[in-house]
This record gives sequence, structure tokens and C-alpha cells, in this order.
Amino acid sequence: MGSVFLKMYKMKVRGVASLKGRVNTQGAKNAALPIMASCLLLKGQKMILDNVPNLQDIDTMTDLLRAMGVSVSRDKGTMTFDVPEDVSCEAPEHLVRKMRASSLVLGPLVARYGRAVVSMPGGCSIGSRPIDLHLKGLVKMGAKIEMRNGFVHASAKRLRGCRIYLDFPSVGATENLMMAAAFATGETIIENTAREPEIDNLATVLRGMGVKVDAEGAGCVRIRGVGETQDCRERVIPDRIEACTYILAGVMTGGEVTVDDVVPEHIDALLAKLEEAGVSFSVLPTAGNGAGYSVAVYPNITKKLRPISIKTMPFPGFPTDMQPLIVAALTKSSGVSLVEENLFQARFLYAGELNRMGADIDIKNNTAVIRGVNSLDGAVVAATDLRAGAALILAGLASEGESSVENMEYVFRGYENIDAKLRAIGADVALEAADQS
Ligand code: EPZ
Repeated sequence: MGSVFLKMYKMKVRGVASLKGRVNTQGAKNAALPIMASCLLLKGQKMILDNVPNLQDIDTMTDLLRAMGVSVSRDKGTMTFDVPEDVSCEAPEHLVRKMRASSLVLGPLVARYGRAVVSMPGGCSIGSRPIDLHLKGLVKMGAKIEMRNGFVHASAKRLRGCRIYLDFPSVGATENLMMAAAFATGETIIENTAREPEIDNLATVLRGMGVKVDAEGAGCVRIRGVGETQDCRERVIPDRIEACTYILAGVMTGGEVTVDDVVPEHIDALLAKLEEAGVSFSVLPTAGNGAGYSVAVYPNITKKLRPISIKTMPFPGFPTDMQPLIVAALTKSSGVSLVEENLFQARFLYAGELNRMGADIDIKNNTAVIRGVNSLDGAVVAATDLRAGAALILAGLASEGESSVENMEYVFRGYENIDAKLRAIGADVALEAADQS
């Protein structure tokens, strides 16, 4: 993504007494992206997707599918994908570089068309993110893979079902191989798969297309490939990471905030840690909203969280995408917290920015040592990735004075209308064009 584009917006955040009100959870970015890629398994058919968030990354995947010949239309939260009889099997570099999840077109293309040319994703600020497990699985299914000039060239007459063991429960590899298996001959069993809720959402879509997908207990999926698919319609699950961002905004400002359209089991890891930290909250059944539950956080008399220790792990462990958010919340705890990052080795880049706001964080190998301070000061800080940006906004809300969070484009990739949603619960925030100097 061009650096000039990155620096177009900043968010002014004034520290507040406490937030108050209700906010609704958007559809999940990390469920919608693989589901959109799966439409490439269709031929002359249609996929309708409801509850799709309005995000930069969704636009990028839309551009990619359009570049391949899919006709994509949108009416509010519903997107329609009209897939022609034939598509281009090339995923252009400029789009894959913009968003790694573009490499999720590899599995459906090579499975459905026997050919795919996809740019290698390139570097990422949170750590090295290879796709070797994606490729290894495709080779096991009979694909021929060549790397040339920064592109993956994959080809296969017809992928064959087989047993695949993933060396790591990678979300992307699980999704790519599930889509590949959907159109392979026979049965594929993928073991040590990711167990994130977004995987189940994709499995439901594949079933909607007529593919037989059975979850064989935790971490194992059995897929019987088909020769034909059918039109399908599905709803994107709520975004558990976005929901937790607003829950923590309430916690960090000692506010009374209710987040609607939450699936409690999807955020168990965070709720368990909030309990440990002494946060008062409740999970409420709420009629009329998608998932049917809400989480309400209540003002915390002591106003200080108890220190806690966290290790990020694949689901159902504590999600790495919430790591920067919970670290921001622990900057004002009543003691020393430890947060260990086990998925992405460079995911503490934002800590220096929090220290600019008066936090006291040391990074020792893959662990953040967070000594609670009494207060944070507003400052000019810069987002280094999507979740880091959100963490800096939360810290700004819990600070004295005004902060300016730069590189908001990172945040737009995963948060819909974040400024309006925060203002709706009493935040004093405003988006401004960044100085172009
Ligand atoms: C998905 O990324 C999410 N992105 C990420 O969310 C999230 O952080 C990550 O899963 C982990 O939960 C989307 O769903 C679009 P992985 P993905 O493959 O699929 C290693 C956000 O903020 N690995 O599960 O790329 C890898 O290096 C984003 O919304 C290999 O070694 O994650 C990492 O250490 C950021 N080889 C670990 O596995 C592979 O072939 C987890 O990666 C694949 C992965």
C-alpha cells in the first residue's frame, strides 16, 4: 500500500471521563474475506452474502474478484457475486501486496480451473507470514507449484482428495485447503486445522454450495469434493475482534457500554481475562439482534484493573488480534502484567507509541512486561498496523488531554465507521486529513 495513501487521515482523540451507550458489532472481516474468495468455486452461479462489513479490505477483495471477471454488487450489508462460466486465474501483484488474504483465491482457482497464478504476499509489519503450509497441502493434493518472478504458479489436471496434517493450525492454510478440497476428487481429511469461528462460517458456505463438509471434532475437517456447485446465500458472523475493541473501550474509560450482536463463545478467552482483572460485566440475551447476545460492561468502582498474564494462542486460546488491545487496557492496571505473543514475532511495534503516552512497557523477547501507571497523556502517535491503530485510539480515550493517531488507513482496513460508532457512545473523536507535508 503506497505510503502517501497511508498518511491521508489521522484521528483526534480527546480523553474522556467515561463512555456510555450501545454499539452494534459489524460483520467479521476475517470471515467475509475467505467466503468472498470461495465464490470462485461457482461457475455461472450466484453467491449472496449478508452482514458484510464496509471496509477497505472488503473493497480490495472486491477489486480482485472484479479483476478476475466476477460481477460484484452491494446493497447496504448484502453483497451479490455473479460468477461467470469462466474467470481469469491470475491475482495481480498490486492487489495481493495490498492485502495478504488475496492469496485465499489460490485454493478455489486451482481446484475449479486447474490453474492459478497468484502473487506472493510479500512482507507484513506484524511478522513473517509465509504461505508454505498452503502450498504444501496443495502439492499433497496433486498440484504442481512453481515460484517464478514473485508469483506462485499452481496447476493440476484435477486435485485429488487425501489426508493432510498441518504443521501449525494456520487459519489461512485451513481455509485455502478446505476450498481446494471442495472441488477435488474423493475425500480430503485435514488434521490440526485452525478452529477459529471464521472457519465454521466458511464451512457453512461450502455446504450451501453443495459440498459435504464434516467437522470431525476439534481441529479436524473431512470434505467430500463435488463435481458441481449451486447458488448459495449466507450470513457473515459478527466480528469478535471489533466487538472486543468496544468492550475494552468501555473498560478503559470506566464506562457503561453494551456491545450488541456478540457470540459469547467466540470471545470466551477475553471474558475470562476480564473476570480475572476484576472487570464487572454481564452477557445478556438480547432479542432481535443477529447473534442474540450482548456484552455489557459496568463502571469499575476501583477504576483499576488487576494485573493479569496472557499467552496468545490459536482459537480457543487468547487471540493475537486482541493482543494490542488488551495491552493498552493493562497500561493502567494496579500492578505488573505479562502478555506473551506466540503467533507473530513483530506484533509489539505499537508498544513504543504507548510509552510515548506515558505507559511503562518493556518488550523481553516475545513478552510485553506492562507496569501499570496512574495516568496516560495525550500524544501524537502512529499506527503500524490495524489492531495497533485501534489500541492507540483506546489509549487516547483513556488519556489526559488530546492525542492524534496517524495512519488511520490501517484502522479503516478492519473497522467500519469507527469514529461515528465511538461518538455514539460518548467519545470525543474526529477524523482529519493528515498534513501532507
Ligand atoms: C489470519 O491470518 C487473520 N487474517 C489474522 O488477522 C490473524 O492474526 C491470524 O489469522 C491469526 O489468528 C485473516 O483471517 C484475513 P495464520 P493468517 O495462517 O491466516 C504461520 C487481523 O488483524 N504460518 O493462522 O495469515 C504464520 O507465520 C489479521 O485481522 C506459517 O508458518 O494467519 C503465523 O505465525 C492480522 N506458514 C501463524 O502461522 C503458513 O503457510 C498463524 O498464521 C501459514 C501460517
